[in-house]
Amino acid sequence: CGIVGYLGNRDVVEVLISGLSRLEYRGYDSAGISVMENGTVSIVKAQGRLRNLEEKLSSGSLKGQMGIGHTRWATHGAPSDENSHPHNSNNNRISVVHNGIIENYMELKDKLVKLGYEFLSDTDTEVIPNLIDFHYNGDLLEAVRETTKELKGSYALGVLSIDEPDRIVATRKDSPLVVGLGEGEYFIASDVPAVLNYTKEFVYLNDGEFAVLTKDDLSFYTNEGEKVERESTEITWSAESAEKGGYAHFTIKEIYEQPKALKDTMTSRIIPGEKIRLDDIHISKDMLTNYSRIYIVACGTAYHAGLIGKVAIENLARIPVEVDVASEFRYRNPIIDHKTLLITISQSGETADTLAVLRESQTKGARVIAITNVVGSSIAREADDVFYTWAGPEIGVASTKAYLTMLVAVYSIALHFAELLGTEETSYLEEIKKEMLTLPEKVAKILKDTTKIEHFADKIHGEKDVFYLGRGLDYQIAVEASLKLKELSYIHSEAYPGGELKHGSIALIEEGISVITSLTQRELFEKMQSNIKEVVSRGAKVMAITYEDNKDVEKYSDEVIYIPNTMDIIAPILAVVPTQLLAYYVSLYKGLDVDKPRNLAKSVTVE
Ligand code: G6P
Repeated sequence: CGIVGYLGNRDVVEVLISGLSRLEYRGYDSAGISVMENGTVSIVKAQGRLRNLEEKLSSGSLKGQMGIGHTRWATHGAPSDENSHPHNSNNNRISVVHNGIIENYMELKDKLVKLGYEFLSDTDTEVIPNLIDFHYNGDLLEAVRETTKELKGSYALGVLSIDEPDRIVATRKDSPLVVGLGEGEYFIASDVPAVLNYTKEFVYLNDGEFAVLTKDDLSFYTNEGEKVERESTEITWSAESAEKGGYAHFTIKEIYEQPKALKDTMTSRIIPGEKIRLDDIHISKDMLTNYSRIYIVACGTAYHAGLIGKVAIENLARIPVEVDVASEFRYRNPIIDHKTLLITISQSGETADTLAVLRESQTKGARVIAITNVVGSSIAREADDVFYTWAGPEIGVASTKAYLTMLVAVYSIALHFAELLGTEETSYLEEIKKEMLTLPEKVAKILKDTTKIEHFADKIHGEKDVFYLGRGLDYQIAVEASLKLKELSYIHSEAYPGGELKHGSIALIEEGISVITSLTQRELFEKMQSNIKEVVSRGAKVMAITYEDNKDVEKYSDEVIYIPNTMDIIAPILAVVPTQLLAYYVSLYKGLDVDKPRNLAKSVTVE
């Protein structure tokens, strides 16, 4: 989601709309603004793209010089006018825009309902204005501070109150927020580009810090309410690069957003010592025992997440799973009845073939779980159960962060089924959950130093064919890695299971051919080592990705990329990251359009 706020002498509606239009890349399923005028707050919001909001405002009757605005990317609650931000307290005294996810909103909602508050939306956000109202005792900053003490999760907030109609209070934790400084005017925004056309002076608010904006003062406060001095920074980026957070492309920005995307997707679902919480999946143990098979059906990268889902569900929950691409599944007369559980995976939730499979399967009696990144998308609406990945909007055509969060989804579902059926020791499942929670940090570590990957990308960027090899889950990674290279670099590549090498593609291995492989499945290390030796002896140059304690690989590979140690079953979440970076750098060195590769579309809504 994107937040913007303004206080000064300009027409606030104009500033907010301009800011929101520059933030639409952060989300665009609905938008809204709150404007303070003569001591009252007026709110206007509209589902859909920003132009719907602009239409509602076109009469020009809403005037004022202070307000907050929001462009939404739904997490809790489908896109609708009611669920759009800003959200007001019941008595309309407090108005709030929020970006982030409040993990304990159910608890807070229960508490507020007992106190007599009513809720008009399905959002997690609506607890915030009401809590602020509850804590308000003549000091808005204090009320916001008291409220944030109760919030678990991530948030960036912009708050208005009719009791203090001269100020905006802003704060953040784990969601970005900047304060812009103009002459006699101040701004808040999720990101610099929102208001870069008005000012170049910014303060990046720290986690847990508060800003209080009035027309002639800007003050910062710590978590404890003590005043602090903050220096502003002058931004020298162009608006275009600012939109990408200073990155050259959305694709690389999204690769770097993966630690956060993983964390957001696991938040409130994977809690050590507790059973996996999947609020939108309503499948009981009895229902699950009744299914004779599970199909996972998807397209492209989502299909590759499905391949890993099969291994995870079969290993942990011992239910047979078949995976297929939607356009094949539909036309092969698959066996579907009321004993079928279908899992569809789709970032956009709009892919035509996947949607058709969902509909046809439901007609035949199947139950459908959808894994998708877009709340309110067709697939999300029509499925019986949903797992939303909370990767945020993905703009780069080649999927990166959405894929990683799809992996979190399939592992969570596998763990959930295993817990329902009791197919694995609780201690083992617990160990996996704990380890999953360490992955955001481990991905961040991989992203810290990309020198070796860049070096290898430079070496191979002129090539025509590249081979990817792997065994077990490393093969599923090879398949996705190969697709990423094709999409981004237009280099032909093939992914092969290590053991199949001798049944075909070894005929193509000759002097100078590049082979990329990952070794994360400990019981297959030796077998994979033999495969690597087979290609090296035929002149291949090898880049291997493996655990940092597996130094042996250096003896027989040209380049080794180390990833932090983890449990083999969830290693794909780490092992795929260097391959995304490789594809990105190869594309970059070839001077291609990384974010929009030729002939490809982000979402394929035709069959
Ligand atoms: C297109 C995109 C791919 C994506 C596939 C499935 O081909 O270019 O990146 O993996 O569609 O999209 P979905 O939205 O269903 O995940």
